Amino acid sequence: MSDRVIPLVDQRSRVRPVALSNEPHPATGHLLDALSRPLRDLRISVTDRCNFRCSYCMPKEVFDKDYPYLPHSALLSFEEITRLTRQFVSHGVQKIRLTGGEPLLRKHIERLIEQLAALRTVDGQPLDITLTTNGSLLERKAQALKDAGLQRVTVSLDGLDDAVFRAMNDVDFPVRDVLRGIDAALAAGLGPIKVNMVVKRGTNDHEILPMARHFSGTGVVLRFIEYMDVGATNGWRMDEVLPSVEVVRRIASELPLVQLDPSAPGETAERWGYADALGRHDAAAGEIGVISSVTQAFCGSCNRARLSTEGKLYLCLFASEGHDLRPLLRGGASDEQIADALAGIWQGRSDRYSELRASLPPEAPGEGRRRVEMSYIGG
Ligand code: GTP
Ligand code: 5AD
Ligand code: SF4
Ligand code: SF4
Repeated sequence: MSDRVIPLVDQRSRVRPVALSNEPHPATGHLLDALSRPLRDLRISVTDRCNFRCSYCMPKEVFDKDYPYLPHSALLSFEEITRLTRQFVSHGVQKIRLTGGEPLLRKHIERLIEQLAALRTVDGQPLDITLTTNGSLLERKAQALKDAGLQRVTVSLDGLDDAVFRAMNDVDFPVRDVLRGIDAALAAGLGPIKVNMVVKRGTNDHEILPMARHFSGTGVVLRFIEYMDVGATNGWRMDEVLPSVEVVRRIASELPLVQLDPSAPGETAERWGYADALGRHDAAAGEIGVISSVTQAFCGSCNRARLSTEGKLYLCLFASEGHDLRPLLRGGASDEQIADALAGIWQGRSDRYSELRASLPPEAPGEGRRRVEMSYIGG
């Protein structure tokens, strides 16, 4: 594609040094960033590899057989991830999302889930542990994930039409196998299950209504995501974004909707319930969500930190630099020193890319190359 931008610089190598203090301050569980946003959600990427090649995330032209994926020695071990997570939790993290790439490709992921499930929040509660998957290995793994302590899963699925789905994953993977994975997750009790559909105008927007019809009444929460300008390789164009207001309008023209209150502070999705004949929410029919990161940014309440596969901490999905935590883990820092370093990093955070996007000058060709890829830091 002529407008595709291939990164000239590997963003994964851009890091900020992390300062260590000799007089660490105790974690209070109530850490705020420079814009008074708490730290609640930690998203951990466990592999930078995926068996799909969705064009909006890992286009084949870039992620080919010569792509320099991280070597195994660079990855954080499960013990290192758990040790770091414990310090994040001491600062108030309540929710863990395992991502990738495709997290189910990481060998023995259940062992990591077991270790994370043993942690407790500052209030003594179990963590909300969830995982985002493309569903390809879910039929096989759902029960083992549940047994290890995973609470729920979110499955990415961009359409029900087999030809559309095969083209979007770009490895000819059949939709039937993902649907079987969702059924296995339901049977294993990994609910409430969410299905994420990235909507690209002209590619899969005709699948919005079939997807809504298919999942209404099943207990699965279907969420429509505006196609974002993450990373530097997907050739993003504004005219391929279908605003969420249009998604809601199209569904409501056939299946009436009523807006629901947010279920948690800092939630990414706006919730809409299917309405009964009196215009009230019909709980049995369920709900959908729309995630409008392009047309209605939600940075004001963003409580999410992202940990890359090799231990770099990113404060925003659109960041161009990470804070390298691995040298602390491998260089003998104490737990208190690590917790203190995390506090300093979070307190200095002022990222709000999506809110600023509209006021930024138009990007020069190739400028997007300063952002890391979503397959590297996770969704
Ligand atoms: P739930 O607790 O399951 O509701 O999690 P969540 O709403 O955080 O959802 P999920 O991780 O499934 O995120 C869905 C999609 O929203 C991601 O794949 C991204 O496309 C987008 N998204 C999530 N977090 C952010 C964020 O912090 N910034 C932006 N711009 N987009 C985000
Ligand atoms: N825009 C929006 N969401 C994206 N994802 C990946 N790339 C993009 C993009 N360009 C999200 C999808 C997918 C998850 C793994 O990452 O939600 O389900
Ligand atoms: Fe893989 Fe998910 Fe990216 Fe698709 S969106 S290439 S399934 S990580
Ligand atoms: Fe958070 Fe950055 Fe997304 Fe805004 S753009 S919601 S700050 S991750």
